[in-house]
Order: sequence, then structure tokens, then C-alpha cells
Amino acid sequence: MNASRREFLKGAAASGALMSGLALSRRKPAHPRVEIPREGIASDPLRPQYHLLPARNWMNDPNGPIYWKGSYHMFFQYNPNAAVWGDMHWAHAISPDMIHWKHLPLALAPTPGSYDSEGCFSGSAVDDGGVATFLYTGVKSVPAAQATLRDAKHNFMEVQCLATSRDDVLQKWDKLPAPVLLPPNDPNLTGFRDPCLWQMGKTWYMGIGSGARGKGGRVLLYRSEDLRHWQYVRPLATGKWNGKQTNDPVDAGEMWECPDFFPLGKKHVLLYSTERKVYWQSGELDPETLIFNTEKRGLLDHGAFYAPKTQLDAKGRRILWGWIPETRTEAEYSAAGWAGCMSLPRALTLAGDGTLQIAVIPEMARLRDLEMAVTASGTGNKARVEALQKIGLPTATAEIAMEFQAKPVHFRILDGTQEILRVAFDPAKAGGELRLGDRVAPVLPASAGQHRLRMFLDGSVFECFLDGGLALTSRVYLAPKTPLRIEMSKTELAAVESLCVWPLRAISPDRLTT
Ligand code: FRU
Repeated sequence: MNASRREFLKGAAASGALMSGLALSRRKPAHPRVEIPREGIASDPLRPQYHLLPARNWMNDPNGPIYWKGSYHMFFQYNPNAAVWGDMHWAHAISPDMIHWKHLPLALAPTPGSYDSEGCFSGSAVDDGGVATFLYTGVKSVPAAQATLRDAKHNFMEVQCLATSRDDVLQKWDKLPAPVLLPPNDPNLTGFRDPCLWQMGKTWYMGIGSGARGKGGRVLLYRSEDLRHWQYVRPLATGKWNGKQTNDPVDAGEMWECPDFFPLGKKHVLLYSTERKVYWQSGELDPETLIFNTEKRGLLDHGAFYAPKTQLDAKGRRILWGWIPETRTEAEYSAAGWAGCMSLPRALTLAGDGTLQIAVIPEMARLRDLEMAVTASGTGNKARVEALQKIGLPTATAEIAMEFQAKPVHFRILDGTQEILRVAFDPAKAGGELRLGDRVAPVLPASAGQHRLRMFLDGSVFECFLDGGLALTSRVYLAPKTPLRIEMSKTELAAVESLCVWPLRAISPDRLTT
């Protein structure tokens, strides 16, 4: 990439491209730090109201989500000092239901002079025989020749570190005095971070995001009996370099960030993040050779969604969390005083053919206020048009659910005459496509000849799901001045079987999730 970072940021914002925490922000902030008053942040109409995000400043990846002693704990990459990437800590929030959150004091901070002096990067949490345990990546500056993370701005050595907590609400964490795993001595290594963990029998396995220069991203597989002594096994999965010469190997597909690997139904699923996208693969893990044979693959979300992490919930569901980054410029989000939020909890399952299915957990319905609906099909079109006209959303926090026949359908979400978002579905276009603003995703034909669209609007965040298999997250930075309404042509409305809209309640009274 030859364009300067500033030009690139502008371009990325204009095209709606994803802004990865490391790829785009691992550098000194270009904008002086301005403290935005609490009230200013609380009343910002672009700030989500039912997504988890810190009261102020920058966040990125979810880290170590875990259900522990009856509560959900979420940790995430956080800069306590500014609304730009840097000085990575692990923030901590607790929830009874994965929907309502309360912030707790920071869980991990860099230790000056130590192996994580420059940041506590992403990682996982596990239950090690009753002891809550974090495995995370510590970074510190080293001479270029020893660095595993080199992006023309930083020379960081990445090591895997362990911390444990013995209190019931996981507030106090004790780090081991030394890392549990150092990077392999390989000058072609493109990175060594973001451990994910699983256990088979008594043995622990750890996948680490990595890659080989000029070859492609990799997940390196290690094994251990005690989480403290690790033995290298093999690459669990390998990818291909995209052929581009970039400062950051993540942009060239030479480095895979944030791997996650878990059993799902009768198969195993691998997730990884690279080139600003998140990919999934499903297949069989051979328990003897530990070779993962991929059978199906795809994109986890076609929009602004990165570095996800999964966990098991109290009901045994596999829940996916991801970072929803900003797609506006650094100057804009830094001035807003907050940047990034967590996706809603999405339950993962596998379809019979191994395709990954994604659905926001049904418990989200607890936030619904009074339903507004366009009456079911069979009703005269006049009544349906009138019902549609009556829909008005006082704030941009809502859920929309629509079932419609496999015909072209498009609708606009309007603030007065100003278009907030255009949603367009065309089953005929190159096998079918869904458009959300300037983002496009291919869709599969609906088996029942009918499609289901579910959309969550929350300030500047739009999470959209089609037919259980397709996710598309988008950001729109237009603050509504009047109640939002939905506009659709009479003919297209005729293809709609049902359309329900619910305003959704904020998850905290002061709008700061505190
Ligand atoms: C992904 C990522 C991870 C890293 C973290 C640092 O967004 O780059 O690879 O651990 O962010 O904040």
C-alpha cells in the first residue's frame, strides 16, 4: 500500500472498509487527546445503546469470554487513555444474560519493564480445574531482528503469557513472572499472537495466529498437560499470501489474527481474521494425527466485523462475539471520545451440509418495546401500505424482522426525506445478492422459496442477518432528527409476508453501560 496512512484512512472510511485495530492504528495518534465530557458521550446519537462498549475511549477484540459461577464475563482490548488504538489493556464487563452489562475494573494492564510492557494483546479464558486462567499475548519493543510483529511502525516481540484469578467475579488477576511460550526462532515468521484454547481428555491444545512471509497465514498448534509447558505439534491450518507487498503482513494474508477452533455438532470449526475479513472453515479434526480436514468455508460476516471469539453459554450454545470497528476517520472517532463496540451475541450452528449458521440469540427479544407490524399476507394491500406508514421509530434503536417471497425487494430507512440506509435484495442477480448501504453480500436461494431478514439498528451500528446463514454488519453515521420510517413500493410490499418492527430499550439508564 503506497498511499499514506491518512489517505488510506479516508479511502477506507469512504468505501466502508474495515479498520483493523492493529493494521490501521498501531502507531502514535495523529490527533491530540481531548477529554470529551461524560454528558457529551452519553447523549451522542451515534453511540450504540444496547451493544456492549466502554463508557469512553477505544476498544477492539473480544477477549476470553467465559461463563463463570453463574455470570457472563467479557474482556476486551481497551485503551484507557484515548479513543484511538494503543496501550492495550483488558477491560472487563459482567452480565447475567449476555445482553445487560456492567463494567468492572480493568482486568489486565501492561507491567512496566516486563514481557507485556507495551500491551496485553488478545487471548482466551479457560476453566483449569476450577481456576479461571487467561492465556494472552504480551508485547514489548525489541530490536527489529528479534521482533515477531514488524509493521514499519513497531518492532514488538510477542510471547504467550498466563494469568489466573481466584476470586468469584474474576476481578483480581495474577500474572506468572515469565511467559509460558516464546516464539519460534524463524526470521520468516509474520506474527505470533492471540492464543485460543481447547481441551481433549486431559490435554490442552492451543492455536496461535501466525504465518510465513511470502507463503501465507497459519494457525500454529501446540499441546500441553498443564497450560504452562507447551510442545509444538504442527500447523493446524495454512493459507495463501495474496501476492501484495504491504507493511503489515495481515493486509497481505501472510498473517492470520485471532484464530478460534471448537467442536460444533459433529464437526470442528476454525475462525481466523486476515485482510480485514473473518473466515470460517468447517471440517473434521482427526483426533490421532490432529490434522484438520476442511470441507466447507466462507465469510463469517460481509461487513464491519473483526477478530471474533466464541464461548459456550449456560445452555451449551456456541456464542460468537466480534468487534464492530468504526468505519469513519480516526479524527472523527477520536473527537467523538469512543470507538468500537461488541457485536450482539450470535449463536452458531452447522447446517446439514456443514455451512455455518448464525443467529442473534432469541433472548434479545427481552429488549423489545411495543410491536409495530405490517399485517400478514392475504390482507388487502391498502391496509398493508397504511400499516407501513404508521411505523415510526423515535430513536435509532430498533429491531426489524421481515419475511418475504424470493422476489426483488428493496426498502429505505428514512429520517424525514434523508436516507439513512437502503436495503436491497435481488434473488436473480448472479445467484442472489443482499445490499446494505454500500456493502454487498451474495445469498443462496431460499429452500422454502421465502426469505427471512432480521436487522438490528443501534445508533450508528446496523447488524443484518439473512436466512440464518448470512451476516452483514454496517456503520452509518447519520444522526436522525425525526422518527425513522420505512419506505417500500406498493408492488414490493406485496411480496412481504410479514414485517415487524420493535423499538429496543437501552441496556443502561445513563447510556454508558455503567
Ligand atoms: C486484532 C488484533 C490482534 C491483537 C490485537 C491488538 O484486531 O490486531 O491480532 O492481539 O488486535 O489490539
